[in-house]
Amino acid sequence: MESIWRKSVQKQKYEKLEKDSYCDVCIVGAGITGLSCGYELAKEGIQVIILEKDRIGSETSGNTTGKITSQHGLFYRYLLDTYGEDFARRYLEANQGAKENIKQIIQEEKIECDLENQDNYVFATNQIEQEKIKLEVEAVQNLGFDAEFVPELAIPIENMGGIVFRNQAQFNSVKYMQGLANAIVQKEGRIYEKSKVVNTQKDEEGYLVETEDYVVHAKFVILATRYPIKSFPGFHFLKMYQSTSYAIAFETQKTLFNGMYISDTTPAISLRTSVYENRRVGILAGEDHKTGKQEEEDHIKALEEQLKKMYPDAKIKFEWEAEDCISLDKLPYIGEFSTLMPHLYIATGFKKWGITTSNLAANILKDLILERENLYVDLFDSKRLKPIQNHTEMVDMLKEAGNSILLKKLVLPKEKIQDVEEEEGCVVEYQGDKIGVYKEKGGKIFAVKPICTHLGCELVFNSTLKTWDCPCHGSRFDYKGRSISTPSVHNLDVYNLEID
Ligand SMILES: Cc1cc2nc3c(=O)[nH]c(=O)nc-3n(C[C@H](O)[C@H](O)[C@H](O)COP(=O)(O)OP(=O)(O)OC[C@H]3O[C@@H](n4cnc5c(N)ncnc54)[C@H](O)[C@@H]3O)c2cc1C
Ligand code: FES
Repeated sequence: MESIWRKSVQKQKYEKLEKDSYCDVCIVGAGITGLSCGYELAKEGIQVIILEKDRIGSETSGNTTGKITSQHGLFYRYLLDTYGEDFARRYLEANQGAKENIKQIIQEEKIECDLENQDNYVFATNQIEQEKIKLEVEAVQNLGFDAEFVPELAIPIENMGGIVFRNQAQFNSVKYMQGLANAIVQKEGRIYEKSKVVNTQKDEEGYLVETEDYVVHAKFVILATRYPIKSFPGFHFLKMYQSTSYAIAFETQKTLFNGMYISDTTPAISLRTSVYENRRVGILAGEDHKTGKQEEEDHIKALEEQLKKMYPDAKIKFEWEAEDCISLDKLPYIGEFSTLMPHLYIATGFKKWGITTSNLAANILKDLILERENLYVDLFDSKRLKPIQNHTEMVDMLKEAGNSILLKKLVLPKEKIQDVEEEEGCVVEYQGDKIGVYKEKGGKIFAVKPICTHLGCELVFNSTLKTWDCPCHGSRFDYKGRSISTPSVHNLDVYNLEID
């Protein structure tokens, strides 16, 4: 499943790391965060190396919806009530600034990435949501920002109006990332693809960043892997989970709407348009759920049904999915990983609003590395231990972890290999043990040890995507056992079964 962004570009390829190397800053991950960090640092004359396990934008940044906005859902009432006016104002200012920085980079580096100015809306589908939206308008206006309530929106979904932030923007994220990568290389930065980092450890000079074959020696390291691939001593896995969303790009004979939209519903419905092969296409995203939650529902089918209601003539061009990290207090973690590991940094927990936040993160981390002041660093304190606001999610996370690490492992399933249908997967009992089995069309069986290589939770099979997903922190593995999504780094153990 490839996104419209990934399908609409000629993929640039970079070589694999082929020798031990040295640099000032080693960045792990070439999504929008890693590349934005690389760009800001290379511009300052810092020697950077970026190590990417697959290709540029192969995970979330290549599968985003690409709205460049400081309107992160209905967020400002929450920030005002929870952290106070100064905090909420600076969060808004920081993200507005990041939006403008992105536009400036696009202009300075002449990046052709289908940038378009658009208004961004959060809309209501019922009276209760409308009340919340009116409170949000009031909160944002109190912060001195020009938000408005619009009573009726011209979108193909019944609505009761929404809050608008004017003059936001949208782009093709992959074209933007390729532009950043070109600029980094022009500024003497080095990018290596197909170079998976398996360990990062301190040495006297700084850090050793180890790939499967070689080592990069660096004074500073940035883990821009979305979910940090290092668990200790940062302990971010106790404070964050991942959520998956699905998206469809479609053509229709009907006139498409203007602007970018997201509902205040759970799950949320997100809309925007783009251009593909000189035609305007619509993009519908939604169906979000906690990654690894075992569900019967086929989320892509559910989204297709939603699309049919909106545009009965819609022709689907592309379908895709992606995950993002959500911290329990809903704020990103940007800064040092742990006091015990100085000069090792993270930027994560973007809550599906990482386009502006990745630019913000790049500027914060650059300033930390260069020992410069930054106005916003305290908003995203990566080592914070403040009381968790999101109690429901925390209880759910602890329950899920306890269940997947301990209880489930003690119980053998009733299912046997023979019970698994073609193109289906599940955990079965095999010779007194538990194994994860997927049966391809034609009957070929792939068997794995269904235990996550991150911290040992039991995996569940995702029937929509045909992957093994972890309910604890959202690692994902393909049905052959290969690690495809962080925080896991290592593949699953696989079995060659003798089946009669
Ligand atoms: C469906 C969806 C829609 C979204 N829409 C929007 C939107 O409209 N606007 C918005 O602001 N935000 C949006 N977001 C959020 C935003 O896209 C993300 O927050 C952002 O892309 C995250 O970027 P990243 O670089 O941190 O992570 P990623 O893009 O996931 O990059 C991490 C990179 O690290 C690499 N990596 C991982 N492990 C290793 C390793 N061991 N060694 C080397 N490399 C490694 C991966 O291959 C990957 O390329 C959306 C998110 C989702 C899921
Ligand atoms: S992702 Fe943490 S245990 Fe699986």
